[in-house]
Amino acid sequence: MADPASVVVVGSVNLDTKLEVQHIPVAGETILSRRRSVSPGGKGANQAAAAAAAAARVKFIGAIGDDEHGRIAVRNLSSWGVDLSSLQVLARVPSGEAHLIVAESNAENLIVVSPGANEHLSPAHVARALETDRSTVLLTQLETPLTVLEVCAEHRGSQWRILNPAPVAPASELRSLLRGFNLLVPNRMELAHLAGSAEPRSLEEVRACTRRIDFDGAIVVTLGSAGAALFLQRDSSPVVIAPPPVRPVDTTGAGDVFCGHLARELAEHGDLERAVRAAVHASALSTELPYAQLLARPLGVSA
Ligand code: RIB
Repeated sequence: MADPASVVVVGSVNLDTKLEVQHIPVAGETILSRRRSVSPGGKGANQAAAAAAAAARVKFIGAIGDDEHGRIAVRNLSSWGVDLSSLQVLARVPSGEAHLIVAESNAENLIVVSPGANEHLSPAHVARALETDRSTVLLTQLETPLTVLEVCAEHRGSQWRILNPAPVAPASELRSLLRGFNLLVPNRMELAHLAGSAEPRSLEEVRACTRRIDFDGAIVVTLGSAGAALFLQRDSSPVVIAPPPVRPVDTTGAGDVFCGHLARELAEHGDLERAVRAAVHASALSTELPYAQLLARPLGVSA
């Protein structure tokens, strides 16, 4: 049997506290939550767990505090078989945490992150960890410092270098770094920020946005319940891939499952369209499950 695929994820680790509510509150509104749960999260950790769940050999580079939340993340990622030899454990800073508000009515969410140790992930540490790494796919996001992104953008040891520009960041800070990647995976809102446009609603508007980005690689725009649009180049016609029908209960982390599966499939066979199809399928199914990480079990639930 061939070696399993090989993916290196550089990214964040959080502990997620989720409050389920009837609707997402507006500014100034106070509402009561009927259910609270705690589970492993963080975009980087979610993507690493998803790739490992899909049978990739995954190495994770990130940072946690020397605390119980960090140890929970370690236990969780280890249980997926993720290589944590390049995880920084930092004294005197707490592990990252995220507070999620999830609406029962339509499974939409709102997330606020307190970055903690993620903010202190050292670029020198990441550079050392990547120096000898020859994973087929490098996958990263924007919940760690831009100086870390600069290191990832300079890495040439991976055939696929994927940037998931989440959460949204000022386009001016990212522009010069995009060049270091050959695959960009934004959602509609992130795409709008990169393009300096309003959030695109139609496929035509999505296409107009991709044309405005100064990026030479392929772009996969995740479209929520409409699946994803693959642009092999920013000005090519998109291939739109629709998801299977699902009954979503929580869309948190669906983008992370998408990226993790995309990375795994690319590492496995290198066919981008086939990888996007697999990612659309997996992320749609993940919305039928209640937590950010596929198959994660909550660490605590209370009413
Ligand atoms: O993408 C979902 C993730 O965003 C959550 O797990 C939360 O930790 C935030 O990082």
